[in-house]
Amino acid sequence: MGLQLPLEQNGNICQSLAMAKTSFSCSACGASFSKWSGRCEGCGEWNTIVEDKGLSSGGPAKKSLGLKRGRTIPLSDLSTQEDPPPRTLSGVGELDRVLGGGLVDASAILVGGDPGIGKSTLLLQAAARFARNGLKTIYISGEEASAQVRMRAQRLGLSSSPVMLGAETNLRDILTTLEAEKPQLAIIDSIQTMWSDRVDSAPGSVSQVRAAAHELTTFAKTNGISIVMVGHVTKEGQIAGPRVVEHMVDTVLYFEGERGHQFRILRAVKNRFGPADEIGVFEMTGRGLSEVTNPSALFLSDRGDPTPGSVVFAGIEGTRPVLVEMQALVAPSPHSQPRRAVVGWDSSRLAMILAVLEARCGVPFAGLDVYLNVAGGMKISEPAADLAVAAALLSAREDTALPKDTVIFGEISLSGALRPAPQTENRLKEAQKLGFTAAIAPSGGKSVTIPGLSLQKTSDLVGFVGEYFAAG
Ligand code: TYD
Ligand code: MG
Repeated sequence: MGLQLPLEQNGNICQSLAMAKTSFSCSACGASFSKWSGRCEGCGEWNTIVEDKGLSSGGPAKKSLGLKRGRTIPLSDLSTQEDPPPRTLSGVGELDRVLGGGLVDASAILVGGDPGIGKSTLLLQAAARFARNGLKTIYISGEEASAQVRMRAQRLGLSSSPVMLGAETNLRDILTTLEAEKPQLAIIDSIQTMWSDRVDSAPGSVSQVRAAAHELTTFAKTNGISIVMVGHVTKEGQIAGPRVVEHMVDTVLYFEGERGHQFRILRAVKNRFGPADEIGVFEMTGRGLSEVTNPSALFLSDRGDPTPGSVVFAGIEGTRPVLVEMQALVAPSPHSQPRRAVVGWDSSRLAMILAVLEARCGVPFAGLDVYLNVAGGMKISEPAADLAVAAALLSAREDTALPKDTVIFGEISLSGALRPAPQTENRLKEAQKLGFTAAIAPSGGKSVTIPGLSLQKTSDLVGFVGEYFAAG
């Protein structure tokens, strides 16, 4: 039998344990350590390890959240409740798709992104749409005063929308408000500004962010409220980043984009209620974010005559095909160590493609600077982009353009063989829809015919180089 202690004393024990043993956490990924070090072993970031402050003498929660203790249900009894969770659509197609088909009731969602990328703008617009669709919505800002949020809403043309506003950072006050108001959706902007009186350390520290996110998530589940938390991606170690709370929430969305570009991509990296890897594309305008329903047209620059170094990759993002332009530049290097610079793709994958081209096809890149860019600020992680990258590199190196109106995709293995990519048909259909007339893809896999599009199959990289570039 375990020792039963009154709650008060339990709190004291926690406190003395916390004082006896100091621990450290990484503010970027949340990994815990028993001693400090300069570099996090979890995520490899430097200067992100900070000391954890334990629970405060405030001890256990002052108010019970009403959780039922130890209640379990046989799995078989659940079969009667297997209906899909109820959802509400915002009416913004790009947002609803990323959420997996609308907002799930009583879910906890994290929206991460760099400061200034447009998280507050997106969520204020989303709040207005949900509110208009009949969801009682509260937007709580810990960063801006209500007047500032109102000014933003005015600029976005939303000043008459039925969203309730609050400016508050004390979590206890926020939870009390939510309990009284009983909204169906609460937006907390941002989690780094919230502070719980149950934790001693400063707002933004790993333990505060963790505790605040935990309280909010638990509150969402017990009270049937959907909660969206904003988390800034941080560079310095003292402020915890959104990765610290990723494991607590149901859905993790990242809002990405290049500051200079007007395109923004909302990407689901985790979703308990839908596919991960789904993207929604938005454009930042003078009046807020507008959705981009045909991203392929947007990621392709105006296509005139084909240029060396530029190829069009037929990719899949989540459940949707997207065409993107891959641009490469290869130039003699003045340095003893040639440069390899990549934007929007994985740099170790680039090193692998260069090595395969050199070892299997005899195309050396030694002494050459290599730059690779995915146009439009898009980030690609699909292996199917390998062949498009190889084509862009060869095309830049040989100063030879690929045939006009051609898309390309396929995975390259270390042997130089090409592997077919999933969803070939969807890729080809999208290409045909956007006026492309040819596609280069690995042989093997399902045979697909799309009217108006000639499919040129190639089985290995050596054959591909020989057919399209003089170097082979
Ligand atoms: P914001 O939503 O405040 O970013 P975050 O909450 O992620 O920090 O967006 C800030 C940027 O968006 C700012 O640089 C101005 C720009 N912006 C527009 O271009 N148009 C608009 O209508 C609004 C509201 C913001
Ligand atoms: Mg903001």
